[in-house]
Amino acid sequence: MAFLTSIALFLSLAALSLASFGNSSSVLSRAGTFSNPLNKQKGADPCMRYINGVYYMTSTQNTDIAMWAATTVEGIKTATPTVLFTDTTAGRNFDFWAPEFWYLDGRWYIYYAVAGNGDDNTHRLHVLSGGTDASNPMNGAYSHTASLVPSNFDFWAVDGSILELGGARYFIFSGKTTDAVWTQCTYIVRMSSPTALSGNAVQISCPTLSWETAATPVQEGPEAITIGGVTHIVYSASHCSTDDYALGLLTLTTGANPLLASSWTKATSPVFTKNVAAGVYGPGHHFMFEKDGEHLFAYHGKSKPGLGCGDLRTTRVQPFSINGTNPVFPAAVGDGIAVAEP
Ligand SMILES: *[C@@H]1O[C@H](CO)[C@@H](O)[C@H](O)[C@H]1NC(C)=O
Ligand SMILES: *[C@@H]1O[C@H](CO)[C@@H](O)[C@H](O)[C@H]1NC(C)=O
Repeated sequence: MAFLTSIALFLSLAALSLASFGNSSSVLSRAGTFSNPLNKQKGADPCMRYINGVYYMTSTQNTDIAMWAATTVEGIKTATPTVLFTDTTAGRNFDFWAPEFWYLDGRWYIYYAVAGNGDDNTHRLHVLSGGTDASNPMNGAYSHTASLVPSNFDFWAVDGSILELGGARYFIFSGKTTDAVWTQCTYIVRMSSPTALSGNAVQISCPTLSWETAATPVQEGPEAITIGGVTHIVYSASHCSTDDYALGLLTLTTGANPLLASSWTKATSPVFTKNVAAGVYGPGHHFMFEKDGEHLFAYHGKSKPGLGCGDLRTTRVQPFSINGTNPVFPAAVGDGIAVAEP
């Protein structure tokens, strides 16, 4: 009798553990959910990566370059930022914008724009060198290494990022050569190392379509992605102050020279826009990254219309998908809605 009871108990425990295993495995395959936005203010121009079980995030803080880290996207909300760099050097100590962190050739680098003397006209791109620990961009001090000013382009330049293609590395950025007419175009220049440019910058695309010219003609925040051998630059279009800030797509003709404007084709419609029904305005200035083979993008948006370019831009994250060789971005999801974390 005792023996039979034990058997029955064993079997029911086994059934129980199988049932709960079924449930916990389905939970494990979806790490959980998170909701946007990840901050209440000062969340513009995010860069985010998932490395070795941890999400790392930077965004525009103006006064310094700070990084948040957490094991879940939701955890970023309560993480304490670490200031990685600030600067008192005249000429590069005002308005630190859009830092991006990259691990290249065995070291972490942060690319960012900064101005001097409170004068926006002096925004130029710079690079910091950090530590060598591929698994942690916060392990090691960052120091200023170089300004990245192309030989033919000592003009206003912001939003530097990296494009790697065919064994070569390129720096892509948004720039304008004159203040007379404010038009920000997309530029590319070859890199001879993670901290040095080589040759002239080439203008590859300018804002011309109606959705690129709301308030002011702008292309900025260029980010490269190669899918199935096809290289794209996803960029932000129109002025950040508008609700119509959006993402656009440039595609490189396969095998063509990225340093020629004629090699790039612009999609005629934006690929990611405001979602009035969901209450998300002016979404853009994104960064694409992967977690376990799943694609995610961080971007900033605003929870109400008319909030402008300032501190009320908040950071949001969503998965996106691939269709053939194209990235396909979802509709912007509203504040407080649960999003499954891949
Ligand atoms: C897992 O939990 C959910 C919600 O509690 C429940 O609906 C579902 O039936 C469970 N699945 C398994 C396999 O036990
Ligand atoms: C996927 O690509 C095909 C072929 O270009 C296109 O017809 C279709 O509309 C695309 N689907 C999505 C969801 O973008």
